[in-house]
Amino acid sequence: MPVLETARLTLRPFREKDVDRLAELMANTDFMRFSLGVFSREQTAAFLKKLMDWERRGLPSQFAVIHRGSNRLIGYCGFFHQQVDGRDEIEIGYRLHPDYWRRGLATEAAQAVRDYGFGDLRLPRVISLIHPDNLPSRRVAEKNAMKLERETVFKGFPTQVFALSREEWLAKRACE
Ligand SMILES: CC(C)(COP(=O)(O)OP(=O)(O)OC[C@H]1O[C@@H](n2cnc3c(N)ncnc32)[C@H](O)[C@@H]1OP(=O)(O)O)[C@@H](O)C(=O)NCCC(=O)NCCS
Repeated sequence: MPVLETARLTLRPFREKDVDRLAELMANTDFMRFSLGVFSREQTAAFLKKLMDWERRGLPSQFAVIHRGSNRLIGYCGFFHQQVDGRDEIEIGYRLHPDYWRRGLATEAAQAVRDYGFGDLRLPRVISLIHPDNLPSRRVAEKNAMKLERETVFKGFPTQVFALSREEWLAKRACE
């Protein structure tokens, strides 16, 4: 995957040496809100390996989110491969360190990832899977032009499926 630049962020592929910082992030309960819980260093290393394997195989993956102002790796934003209700889907997912919340950074990253997904990768559709109580994440999805498509149960949890098709993205761009 390429390096994406937004006004305040650099989104780049993950590297093996990101494991220390990623383990620090994934041990943080706020960073891991609305997940199964914090990750150990071993779990983080396995997660990082999964992301780098996707990258190596030429599949969409997560980007490391670098805040240029502080030159810190502050989280991830990018693509996950999910099976939802028996259908293969590409999800846009994001997590940021709480010190960087509420500055529009997740929205900035998610919009760049979405535009890369439709513009360069020519994906037919992207979704975001969101717990009904996760208002910040829902707002990021809405600001990413996604619409609530349905509610389902994903990995045992009530989950809202937000979705955007390539046609909707193209139509939106034509109006801008
Ligand atoms: C979800 C998350 C990435 C949002 O990051 P962020 O950088 O703070 O988001 P933004 O600043 O781009 O804000 C997006 C919208 O959410 C709103 N928002 C952010 N935090 C909020 C909060 N705690 N309560 C209510 N609204 C909130 C913002 O006001 C903004 O909406 P607005 O423009 O209408 O005001 C961040 O909260 C996070 O990492 N949470 C833990 C992990 C997580 O839940 N990830 C998603 C899993 S599906």
